[in-house]
This record gives sequence, structure tokens and C-alpha cells, in this order.
Amino acid sequence: MEVPYIPPNAPFNPDQRQWLAGFFAGLHSRMLVQSENVAAAQSNAVQKPIAILYGTQTGNSEELANEAAQEAKENGLVPSLIDMGDCTAVSFTGFARVVMVCSTYGEGEMPDNAQELWEAFEADDAPRIDGVPFGILALGDTNYDLYCEAGRLWDERLAALGGERIIDRVDCDVDYEEAARAWIKEIMPRMAAHGGNETAGAEGAVKAEAKTGGARWTRTNPYDATLLKRVLLSAKGSGKEIVHYEISLGDSEIEYRAGDIVNIFSTNEIAYVDKMIEILQCSGDEMIPTKGEDKESLRHLLTEVLDIRRPSRDLIQLLADRSGDRELGKILESKDSKALDDYLYGKDTLDLMNKFGSIPLSGAEFCRLAKPLAARAYSISSCPLKHENEVHVTVASVRWDYEGREHKGICSTYLADILAEEKKLKVYFTRNKHFRIPEDESKNIIMVGPGTGIAPFRAFLEEREMTCASGKNWLFFGDRNEATDFIYKDELLAMKDSGILNRLDLAWSRDQKEKIYVQNRMLENAEEIFKWLEAGAYFYVCGDAYYMAKDVDKALHDIIAEQGMLSAEEADSYVSRLKKDKRYVRDVY
Ligand SMILES: Cc1cc2nc3c(=O)[nH]c(=O)nc-3n(C[C@H](O)[C@H](O)[C@H](O)COP(=O)(O)OP(=O)(O)OC[C@H]3O[C@@H](n4cnc5c(N)ncnc54)[C@H](O)[C@@H]3O)c2cc1C
Ligand SMILES: NC(=O)c1ccc[n+]([C@@H]2O[C@H](COP(=O)([O-])OP(=O)(O)OC[C@H]3O[C@@H](n4cnc5c(N)ncnc54)[C@H](OP(=O)(O)O)[C@@H]3O)[C@@H](O)[C@H]2O)c1
Ligand SMILES: Cc1cc2nc3c(=O)[nH]c(=O)nc-3n(C[C@H](O)[C@H](O)[C@H](O)COP(=O)(O)O)c2cc1C
Repeated sequence: MEVPYIPPNAPFNPDQRQWLAGFFAGLHSRMLVQSENVAAAQSNAVQKPIAILYGTQTGNSEELANEAAQEAKENGLVPSLIDMGDCTAVSFTGFARVVMVCSTYGEGEMPDNAQELWEAFEADDAPRIDGVPFGILALGDTNYDLYCEAGRLWDERLAALGGERIIDRVDCDVDYEEAARAWIKEIMPRMAAHGGNETAGAEGAVKAEAKTGGARWTRTNPYDATLLKRVLLSAKGSGKEIVHYEISLGDSEIEYRAGDIVNIFSTNEIAYVDKMIEILQCSGDEMIPTKGEDKESLRHLLTEVLDIRRPSRDLIQLLADRSGDRELGKILESKDSKALDDYLYGKDTLDLMNKFGSIPLSGAEFCRLAKPLAARAYSISSCPLKHENEVHVTVASVRWDYEGREHKGICSTYLADILAEEKKLKVYFTRNKHFRIPEDESKNIIMVGPGTGIAPFRAFLEEREMTCASGKNWLFFGDRNEATDFIYKDELLAMKDSGILNRLDLAWSRDQKEKIYVQNRMLENAEEIFKWLEAGAYFYVCGDAYYMAKDVDKALHDIIAEQGMLSAEEADSYVSRLKKDKRYVRDVY
């Protein structure tokens, strides 16, 4: 699909209007298909129906669910692909066979779109699903303590409610493709051979399509984009370094929308690789076995393939075992994840290797223990209607000092320090379809995005501008100091002047003695926020997951309880309704 260039603030010509109408109509019809799928999974049974549910935050599970649907078809099953957010417990009981692909978020929590269905299933009055064959594919990341927790919970619960586990759950780490595909290939023939819970019905709702155009660029086949421009947003004297990057998508045919995520691959810094080779007492030329008969040089693996800054849990365990270090050994034995986090705080792999420097560890062993260098996700800060064939990101460079040595985050400093303008970088995109501005352009939106959390809201505001949306826009933004950290200041103030941004409330946390955060600004505007919500406004949050998003959530509950004169339970229900209606959505990390 060719996206016409529409200059900022220009009135639309008829061609552009027609294109926009088609674009949004297409999106709308894709959304309708979702709700039809639930019904199809229950009623389609002349052949063998199978419901393939996905719980996802950033699209990996959805992508795998799509692959599972293809495989189901090849095994004579009739798949229905279902967003868990569109599925109720009651409709679940009508499924003949169930395959679920579910990631884990927060600290061992459900992804947002699976939360409500999970609440229904964990309740005492959850429906029984006696005899329904099921299988769970769990996505996660071994860097988290509660690895694949959501998948594990579903697996146990569905079995406890009478479901028949067809094959064991597989927990997949960040390099999930191979394990996930093997699991999908194993479960589908077994599902097809199983009697299931057949009733009656017609054809399946999923028409899995071959990937064409921009969709062919994936995690395993990323696109070689080009860095066009790097602009330092935070001013001199700031304690932070926030950088705006503009990336060309060339002839990739990649389509994305405001709210989506771009994943960026990086490489390790040469100086760091050299230090690692030195501590391993290698030359770098050693050939290390990888897959099957394949071999790669140690230098190549340490530079391009492995995450060599963040020590993997396996490496930490090995260092503890071989060194006999009592402190680390005790912490690992206790399985006290907080104690381990405290122990590791600030240290990178080199710190640990230096600490236990006398331990013999071969290059091959190190490579086996290290995790693959995964792409990092970034909330897109541009709208494609305004920046044709480009994607923009807003990245905080991760740097800290530990025992006098500068430590760096791999990807953010690869972008900031290593990658030159006009050079290539590998990217792929994930849709974030829950994080969208409302289909009804007349709806008001409230956006809360301190720090880099502003990224998707710059994109939202651009989309509202380009589509001449009539709904009002309210942004809560903030960071440490107004003088140095008011990023995108000129753009935001220009949007305020032009009326695109109706309200802008700012919270500078370190400009005064006491902290002022975005949630303080929300509480000051409680009456107005509640009025907006009552009138149908959408509420979005982006940025830090661990502190900010939790405190903003609490402030939202407090505002609703106080302004609506509701009990805490009633306020909870109000917020649950907002979530269910996709009017309270978050992109937090
Ligand atoms: C959906 C999503 C959207 C995101 N959007 C954005 C965005 O728009 N902008 C953005 O900047 N980031 C965003 N992120 C975060 C981003 O993906 C990366 O996690 C971030 O850039 C760090 O990656 P890195 O490779 O530079 O650091 P890594 O090499 O991954 O290192 C990070 C690790 O370094 C350690 N560390 C960091 N700071 C310190 C410190 N001060 N002291 C001690 N240890 C420390 C921590 O262990 C941390 O886990 C997003 C993440 C997700 C999941
Ligand atoms: N590990 C670290 O030390 C560290 C440090 C910074 C950022 N980060 C991470 O780096 C990423 C990018 O950071 P960022 O630029 O988006 O944001 P950020 O640097 O975390 O913070 C942006 C603003 O939010 C404030 N803030 C802190 N705690 C808050 C809370 N509980 N509620 C509301 N606001 C709060 C900060 O204030 P104050 O800082 O003045 O409290 C600052 O003004 C995030 O993932 C973040 O978690 C990590
Ligand atoms: C903020 C955040 C929190 C996460 N928390 C966990 C966790 O607690 N346990 C886990 O195993 N994986 C965790 N993950 C990893 C995701 O589950 C993993 O990246 C998965 O592939 C995402 O799949 P999705 O795109 O379908 O959501 C987390 C990822 C992010 C970004």
C-alpha cells in the first residue's frame, strides 16, 4: 500500500481523503474479524475446530499464534485466531480444542489483553472445561525471576478445571522461534488426532496469509534500515541523555501506526569485546561450534551474536559453583531474587569475571552460557502519515558508573556512540494494537508519559494533527529539570499554540525540594480528568513500569473514587471497565 505524503497542516486533497478513509476502514474491518472469531471457534465443527488464543503485549505471541493457525490448517483443523481480550470465560467453554500462546509481563503478570480472562478463570466460580484438549506455549525471558509465569498459571489452571493437556507446556526464552515452532509442529497433529469437543459448524475464521510487503521483515529476517539523523534532546547539564533518532525505512514497504513498536538490533562495543577476549585468555580467532557442524569465530560471536554485558543466570551459577564463593553461593541457594538483584546491582559481566578471575572458563563455555543479543524494543515516536518511510524513536542512553568504570546499556549506546549517520541498522516492527488512538476521532484522549514515555504521544499527536481529529488532547509530561529535560519543547508548545494540544501539564521532579511527579499534576486536576473520563475519554500511560505506572494507576483509582464518590471496590470496577473498553491502555517497560 502506498502511503501518500501529506505535508504538515495541509488541507487534504480528495486523493488523500480517500486513502485515509480506506486506511481506517481497513483497520476497522480487521477489528471486527476478531470478535467474529470467538463465535467461529465455537460453532465450526463439521471439520475439526481449534481455538488459538494469544495473550500478548508486543505481538510475539500473536505472530506465533498465526503460525500455529497455519500449521493447524495443514493438519486438517479449522483454526480460529482469538485475541484473549476478545474472549470471555463463557465463550471459552464452547471451544472444542484450545491452543494458547501467552507471554508474561510486569513481574510475572499477565499481558494486558489476557488479564480479564485470567481473572475469570482464577475465580472460584470459573467454568469447568472437562475433557477439552489444550496446550500452552509460554513466552518469557529468563532474565526475569518469574520466568513464563503467566503461561505456567494458565497451564495449571486449565488442567485443574478439567482440561486435558495434550502435550507439555514449553517455556520459550527471548530466542523463542525454534522451540516454539517445534512445539507447534508437535501439537497440531495430536490435536487433529484427538476427538475434541466437536458439535457442529462451518468454516474456520482464520485465513492465514503468506507474508508479503513490509510484513516479511521479522525478528529472524530484520530489515536493514538506515540511520538518517541523531538529535540530542536533553540539554547540556542534564543528568540524562535522551536522543531522538530518525531512521529511513527505504523500500521496505513497512507499514506501522502510531502506538507500534520498533525493535532494534545492535552489536557490542569493540573495546568491551577486546576486554572479554583478554579475560577469557583467548585470541578471538578460536572457532566455536554453533549449530550442527557450523562454527564461528569467538570474536564474531562476542561482537554480533551474544549479550556479553548482562551476565546470564547460567553464567552466574557457574561462577558461583567454580569459585566456591560463599556469599554468591548462599544467595543463589536461597532463591531470594531480591538479594541476587542487590548483589548484581551495577555490575556487568566483566565485573563478575574480574571478581572470579582465576576461574578457568573457555571461550566456548562462555559462549554456551551467554544469552543471545536480543533486539531492544522502542515505542515509536513518529506518525507515518507525517514522516513517510521513516520511523523515529526517543531513547534514553543507559550509562552508569561502577567502581570507577563507565558501564553502558548495549543498544541505547550503540545508537548514541557507535552507529554513524547514513549507516545501516537492523529493525523489525511489532504491532501494539491495544495502544491506538480511538477509532472515533472525536473522542478526547488523556496521555501520561514522563521521560521517554512521551515517545508514542508525539506520534499520537502527529496522527491527530494529520487526520484533523476533532477530539481534544491532554498531555501530562515531566522529567527531572525543566531547563534541561523539557524534550520536544518547541514541538509541544507549537502544538499547544495551534490547538492540537489542548492541555499540557508539566511535572519537574527536581526543580524544587519536594518531588513533583505527573500523578501529582493528575491529582490537582482530578475534577477535570473525571469529567473527561465520564464523557468517554481514553486514558493512556507510557514509560517506566516499575514505579511511575503503578503510582499513576493508584492516582487514577483515587481520582475516580473521590470524584465519583465511589468505594475502593467500585473504583476498581470502574477502572476494570475502562480497561475492558480499551479506554485505559498502557505501554510500560
Ligand atoms: C515495549 C517497550 C518500549 C520501550 N520503549 C522505549 C523508549 O521509547 N525509549 C527508551 O529509551 N527505552 C524504551 N524501552 C526500553 C528499551 O527497550 C531498552 O530496554 C533500553 O534502551 C535499555 O537497553 P540497552 O540495550 O541500552 O541496555 P541493556 O544492555 O539492556 O542494559 C540495561 C540494564 O542495565 C542495568 N542498568 C541500567 N541502568 C543502570 C544503573 N543506573 N545502574 C545500574 N544498572 C543499571 C540494568 O540491569 C538494566 O536492566 C522500551 C522497552 C519496551 C519493552
Ligand atoms: N536503573 C536506573 O537507575 C534508571 C534510572 C533512570 C531511568 N531508568 C529506566 O530508563 C528508562 C528510561 O527512563 P525515562 O527517561 O523514561 O524515565 P525516568 O528517568 O525513569 O524518569 C522520568 C521522570 O519520572 C520521574 N519519576 C520517578 N519515579 C516516579 C514515580 N514513581 N512516579 C512518577 N514519576 C516518577 C523521574 O523523577 P526522579 O528521577 O527525579 O525521581 C523523572 O522526573 C526507563 O525504563 C527507566 O525505568 C532506570
Ligand atoms: C516490562 C517487561 C516485563 C516482562 N516481565 C517478564 C516476566 O516477569 N517474566 C518473563 O518470563 N518474561 C517477562 N518479559 C518478557 C516477555 O514475556 C517476552 O519479551 C515475550 O517474548 C513478549 O511476548 P509478547 O510480544 O507476545 O508480549 C517481560 C518483558 C517486558 C518488556
